Amino acid sequence: MNDFQKFAALDTVALVDGRVVIIDQTKLPGRLETLRLRTQPEIWEAIKSLRVRGAPAIGVTAAFGLALAARDLADAGARDFSSALAEAAAYLASSRPTAVNLSWALKRLLARAGEQAGEAPGRIAEALQAEALAVAEEDVRVCRAIGRHGLSLLRDGDGLLTHCNAGRLAAIRYGTATAPVYVGLEAGRRFKVFADETRPLLQGARLTAYELSAAGVDVTLICDNMAATVLKKGLVQAVFVGCDRVAANGDTANKIGTLPLAIAARRYGVPVYVCAPTSTIDPDTPDGGRIVIEERPGSEITDQWYAEPMAPAGCRTFNPAFDVTDQELVSAFVTEYGPVRPPFAEGFARLFAAKARGEAFA
Ligand code: MRU
Repeated sequence: MNDFQKFAALDTVALVDGRVVIIDQTKLPGRLETLRLRTQPEIWEAIKSLRVRGAPAIGVTAAFGLALAARDLADAGARDFSSALAEAAAYLASSRPTAVNLSWALKRLLARAGEQAGEAPGRIAEALQAEALAVAEEDVRVCRAIGRHGLSLLRDGDGLLTHCNAGRLAAIRYGTATAPVYVGLEAGRRFKVFADETRPLLQGARLTAYELSAAGVDVTLICDNMAATVLKKGLVQAVFVGCDRVAANGDTANKIGTLPLAIAARRYGVPVYVCAPTSTIDPDTPDGGRIVIEERPGSEITDQWYAEPMAPAGCRTFNPAFDVTDQELVSAFVTEYGPVRPPFAEGFARLFAAKARGEAFA
């Protein structure tokens, strides 16, 4: 079996025999390695250093991590189980600030624990494991639905441009921005994908190009500063990106470089579709100005991935990991319930109301 075949058989994150098993994304594309994480610091470190990354994937990892913490606390006979569990959740949530899926998944597990209050800690730990597995299973279903809705916006043979990795490596199986391509592939439809390399950590080059190649998708890698040329030349008919947190008004935090891409796409009349599970839409954040943007070490710009430093020693750097795309640059959010078009605040309110009532969203 070659690496691409092995990769096809792996989930990005899985819970196996009381371990969180992840594909170590810092090793791709050179080596396909998995890590078996057990302790809370191991899980925290894996999220912090982007061994596992992408909003849905870190949500699932944190959910599995908290389920393991609950098991440990129960086995150790912790005196105040529920405050110790809340502390463990706060610790995992502190690993990365921007993607809402992380705190969303942890809150969901804490709520489940709250429903079980009064039960023995061992029973609560079992319930949390079941809930964490449900979060992972839902991710696959949600991403597949996003894929179906995204596909309805495309014509066969279209060119798509994507940024960073919002693919299966950022989720469990389909990804969000790549889901239309994968779901399309299952139906025999073919698209041509341009992948931005995504400075400084090269998720587009290392991860998106890897996973799309592994799936046999026609993928062309470009540097970020070539995107405007690709758009101007008419090589793509749509931009598909993921998101880390969508504010109530539609302002969208995603990997740094999404904003200039959306500006260029608007200039050249190419629609920008943000693929967004409803778990990434944060009604508690009114607009993009309130989104906390993670800043990462400057060495990621100057040294990481290079044989030699790419800047003079001591050079000042600024390394925000995400930017916020203004809502007016987004053509539609592709959610698991269907596309939401402007005005987004109203659209999201209708979407969440339909979701709460278990009704279809149109
Ligand atoms: O820093 P990363 O690699 O975790 O950033 C990932 C992104 O910005 C993705 O586009 C986003 O999380 C959506 S993943 C479906």
